[in-house]
Amino acid sequence: MAARILDGKAIAKEIQAEIATSVAAHVAAGGMAPGLAAVLVGEDPASQVYVRSKQKACERAGIASWLHRMPDETTTEDLLEVVSQLNGDPNVHGILVQLPLPPQIDELRVLDAIDPAKDVDGFHPQNVGLLSQGRPRFLPCTPSGVMQILARSDISIAGKHAVVLGRSDIVGKPMASLLAQKESTLGPNYCNATVTLCHSRTTNLAELTRQADLVVAAIGRPKFVTADMIRPGAVVIDVGINRTDDGLVGDVDFGPVSEIASAITPVPGGVGRLTVTMLLANTFAAATK
Ligand code: GUN
Repeated sequence: MAARILDGKAIAKEIQAEIATSVAAHVAAGGMAPGLAAVLVGEDPASQVYVRSKQKACERAGIASWLHRMPDETTTEDLLEVVSQLNGDPNVHGILVQLPLPPQIDELRVLDAIDPAKDVDGFHPQNVGLLSQGRPRFLPCTPSGVMQILARSDISIAGKHAVVLGRSDIVGKPMASLLAQKESTLGPNYCNATVTLCHSRTTNLAELTRQADLVVAAIGRPKFVTADMIRPGAVVIDVGINRTDDGLVGDVDFGPVSEIASAITPVPGGVGRLTVTMLLANTFAAATK
C-alpha cells in the first residue's frame, strides 16, 4: 500500500499563519516587532537560497530581518565583532550565523559567542545542555520541525523505536535527544521514544533500521535509505537535501520506500519547509520571553 505523504509545505504554512497572528497580537498590544539578524559569510549558493527564504518568511510573519553579508575571506575576529554588535542590539532578538562557514573561521568560537538568549538556532552549548537536561529553551529548528510534522499528522512516537541516521550537531544529535525526552509541549504522544542513533561507523545498519517504527534520515547521502531497510508500515522522515544531476533529492529512495512505509515526507516539500518555520517560532519566543 502506498504511504501517506506528509505535506511539510501545508504544515509549515499552517504554523507560519499561527506565528503571524501571534506576532500581530503582540505588536497590537504594544510589544516590539520581533527581529532576526542573519549573518552570511561567503557565496555558498545553498546558503544564499536558505537565507533568502528565511528573510521572505520573516516578512510574511511580521518579523523584522536583517542580513549581514561578509566576504569569503572574513576572519574569526571579524565575525566575532559582528556577533558582538548584534548581541548588544536591542532590536535584534534572534541571531543566526549561517553554516557552513569558510574553513579559516573557528565555527565553535563563533557559535559560543552568540548570546544564548538570542541563539534561535539552539546551537550554543548552554542551549544544547538545556535540551539534554530536558528543559529546553530553543529547540534546534530542523528536529523541532520534524516533531511538528509528527504531531500535526497524529503520528505518536511514545514507546516506539526510532532510528536516527546521522549524528550531526544540527540534526542527528538533537533529533535523538528530542525523541527521547520525558515530556513535550506537544503532548505525551511526542516524546518517550526509544532511540537508536546510527552513524557512518554503525555496523549492520539495515538490521537496525528494519527494527524501527520511525526512521529519521539525516546523513546527506542521496537515496541512501532503500526499501529493503524499512519495515512495512514504518514512518520515514527524510531530512536530506542533496543537489544532484537529477535535481534535489533526499536521503531516502522515495519511490520504492513509499510503497512500504505507512507515511513519508517528500523532498522537496517535506522537512525543509519546517526548518525556516521553527526559526520564526524561536525568534518570536526570543522576543516575548
Ligand atoms: N545550515 C544548514 N542548516 C542550518 C541551520 O539550521 N542553521 C544555520 N545557522 N545554518 C544552517
